[in-house]
Amino acid sequence: MTDTWPDIAPAAGTPACGPPSFAPERGWWVTRHADVRAALTDPTFQVPVVAGGPPGTLAWLRASVSRFSSPSRHAERRSIVVTALHALDPDDLRQEAARLTGAVLDRAGGRLDVMRELARSVPLRVLAGRLGLADPVAAGTAVAVVAAAYHPGVDVAHLRRADRAVATLLAVVPPAAPEVRANVIGLLVQACDATAGLIGAAAHHLLPRPGGDPSGAARTPELLAEVLRLDPPVRATRRVTASAVRLGGRELPADSQVLLRFDAANRDPGVFAEPAAFRPGRAGAGLLTFGAGERGCPGDRHALALATGVLDVLRDRCRRTPAPLCHEPHPTLAVAKTLEVSVR
Ligand code: HEM
Repeated sequence: MTDTWPDIAPAAGTPACGPPSFAPERGWWVTRHADVRAALTDPTFQVPVVAGGPPGTLAWLRASVSRFSSPSRHAERRSIVVTALHALDPDDLRQEAARLTGAVLDRAGGRLDVMRELARSVPLRVLAGRLGLADPVAAGTAVAVVAAAYHPGVDVAHLRRADRAVATLLAVVPPAAPEVRANVIGLLVQACDATAGLIGAAAHHLLPRPGGDPSGAARTPELLAEVLRLDPPVRATRRVTASAVRLGGRELPADSQVLLRFDAANRDPGVFAEPAAFRPGRAGAGLLTFGAGERGCPGDRHALALATGVLDVLRDRCRRTPAPLCHEPHPTLAVAKTLEVSVR
């Protein structure tokens, strides 16, 4: 592969950009860059509330974390997360992710599943270790179970497994007030699928095919930023309108269910010239994959550092095999199920 990159076709289901649109079976979709940004930064568009549950359960965790907090609780809980992240050095995360990745590749035979062996484990092990969890490997496994049950529509068996995983995590997270411990776990859960999805998408698009040229000279962080724009692991996020509101020339009634489509907004032709072209380092109004405003991702630099550590080593030592790619079923995330590479 050279520095002339092919276009990345939109994932199936990515809508074109246009004014906010409504359909009874799916609610409102917001697809233009300016409209998505406006909704993310307008307090009328609120994160849907979640039901609580007995202490130590998944429902308790969801009701205690900053991510799903009501406006009245959000700032204080977010400050717990921001303080915890502030203590982590992204350079150290990158180096540790690269070290663990190298160790996994050294042990691998000729082939390896990037998703299972690296994308789903290395970032969590690094973060859990640096956040002081007693057993980073066990913590990583438990976080993945919680993450799989974090969003609505999960069956009872998965919820029970997730309750047990929350108990496992509470046993290894450093002692602190319950809300602090919940938010440290919440931070790991937020990191889990999105970072794995980014690593999978980047490995899929960036690693040379068998017999292909080594990947070009572009730096990994710029490559990752462009993968985040064109093939985002977080496709969309939800909001509910607290009152009637005007957005992008449309009137949305109170209590409207709204899906903010990062996948479409990141390809807005009014913002990105030749939006389907893969151009690392391109100028523009900025990708929306990390959200924006006071709810925007506080772990963006950490995510990029972790993914860079893994990808730097993969680019050097791995080739993509022709095995087909398919994604986990999920309403708003895009995470590859498996992704095979050959190793040298
Ligand atoms: C490629 C990887 C990642 C992507 C694309 C991503 C994306 C996002 C987005 C879009 C949101 C906001 C959701 C909304 O407004 O509805 C968010 C929130 C959040 N993310 Fe990330 N994230 C990633 C990795 C991480 C990592 C590595 C961490 C921690 C180290 C993290 C921690 C969080 C937290 C704690 C929140 C909730 C913030 C709050 O409640 O105010 N994320 N993320």
